[in-house]
Amino acid sequence: KRPGPSIVFIFGGSGDLNYRKLTPALYNLFLDDWMPDHFAIAGIGRSPYSNDAYREHLLEGITKFSRRKGKQNGHWKDFKEHVSYLQMDGDDEKAYHLITDMVKEKELEWGIHPNVIFYLAVAPQLVPSIASKLGALKICSDTSSTRIVVEKPFGHDLASAHELNALLTGMFAEEQIFRIDHYLGKETVQNILALRFANALFEPVWNRNYIDHVQITAAESVGLEGRGGYFEHSGALRDMVQNHILQILCMVAMEAPVSFEANEIRNKKVDVLNAIRRIQHHEVHDFAVRGQYGPGWKKGNEVVGYRQENGVNPQSSTETFAAAKFYIDNWRWQGVPFYVRTGKYLNQKDTHITIQFKPAPHYAFPSESADSWRSNRLTISIQPNMDISIRFQVKRPGQSMNLDPVDMKFGYEESGGEHAPEAYETLLLDVMEGDATLFMRADQVESAWKVIMPILETWEGRKPQDFPNYAPDSWGPDDADALLARDGHSWINTV
Ligand code: BG6
Repeated sequence: KRPGPSIVFIFGGSGDLNYRKLTPALYNLFLDDWMPDHFAIAGIGRSPYSNDAYREHLLEGITKFSRRKGKQNGHWKDFKEHVSYLQMDGDDEKAYHLITDMVKEKELEWGIHPNVIFYLAVAPQLVPSIASKLGALKICSDTSSTRIVVEKPFGHDLASAHELNALLTGMFAEEQIFRIDHYLGKETVQNILALRFANALFEPVWNRNYIDHVQITAAESVGLEGRGGYFEHSGALRDMVQNHILQILCMVAMEAPVSFEANEIRNKKVDVLNAIRRIQHHEVHDFAVRGQYGPGWKKGNEVVGYRQENGVNPQSSTETFAAAKFYIDNWRWQGVPFYVRTGKYLNQKDTHITIQFKPAPHYAFPSESADSWRSNRLTISIQPNMDISIRFQVKRPGQSMNLDPVDMKFGYEESGGEHAPEAYETLLLDVMEGDATLFMRADQVESAWKVIMPILETWEGRKPQDFPNYAPDSWGPDDADALLARDGHSWINTV
């Protein structure tokens, strides 16, 4: 079912996120016939643009970044009529009437009060000022149809996230606030829930009795992509672990939801975050590893080290790689380590989850014939591969009893997944429909900060002595391997 009439106001309308992701996503929704009968998209920004120049600029973004490029047989001509540009300064309270005027105009034209969505695709320091000016508008007291979407980073630490939550919840009802984590919109991430909770096959073994450990890797092959100024004040732990990786961890570890109602799913996830054992400051060294890439070669091209990147301090202590070991203190997961890692300029783009099961309790085969650690595992590949595979051992054909690991694989792409919507398409559609299931609730964001605060504080208080400590195109610093080796394990790469 398509959503009702909607106006999407995009603060940061002339910015990169809108250019690369938001408008291309809205356009794809339009091509797939998911946009409402009546809709308008208004980019808001300070740069001067005529409507026509703005539309041309967005078309360029679609051509470069959309999963379906270009004008698509004249559909662009129809779509662009819905797009306009409002030149205004988000700091100027007096300019906000432009928004209310537009809402009134559309209401008259369409004969119905539309959903009004404010998407804050702006630098985090601008969010409080814009949100409070929006909050003062009368339309924002309409909790059923006015919504605000806040991009990550949601705060810089626990205290600032708490402050931002206080500000937003002071102005908007929780059901109006959509805190985005775009990983939750990814098809393969949503599929984790289907795999776990639509099959009875996995649940009996999905616990500490059968699972030895879990690995979550979100390796990036790209570097900073011109975002040095942002990343220097963020680092990999804030940028990827606090949000994307912990959210994936929640989906792997949560208890079965009773329904797919937004709060039910979010309650179950927050239970996981609250159960993650707090790492003590003095033990951070044993539980977390940080890295920073130096100069080197990336796929045959010479690249500068992190400290030589634009916008980065030449003595920077910011980590471009982070790995950690978490324990979840509850009945299901007691004693099962969850290893997570992420980094820039790693050897491959590879986001996946590995569930490593315990070895068979007794091995009757000749010991050299098999290695239970190489098999006996479930891998959920999120990107670029989109598949779920189970690796187990079989007898190698022949007279001797030798075993080989084999994969039984479900390819999401071959099952129609290549036409799957992108994360932002799913999430924007959900916002228009008012479905917050795939968005972060205030307490979830804060609980996730609580998990990483001891690591952040310890790292900030202690300058790394060995930075840079990994080369581009590698799999990160040696210490990351040592983190698992201490437990007798090693990282698994799938691509
Ligand atoms: C963003 C981070 O949230 O996620 C980026 O800020 C990172 O640094 C990106 O590159 C990764 O997203 P994806 O969808 O390409 O895995």
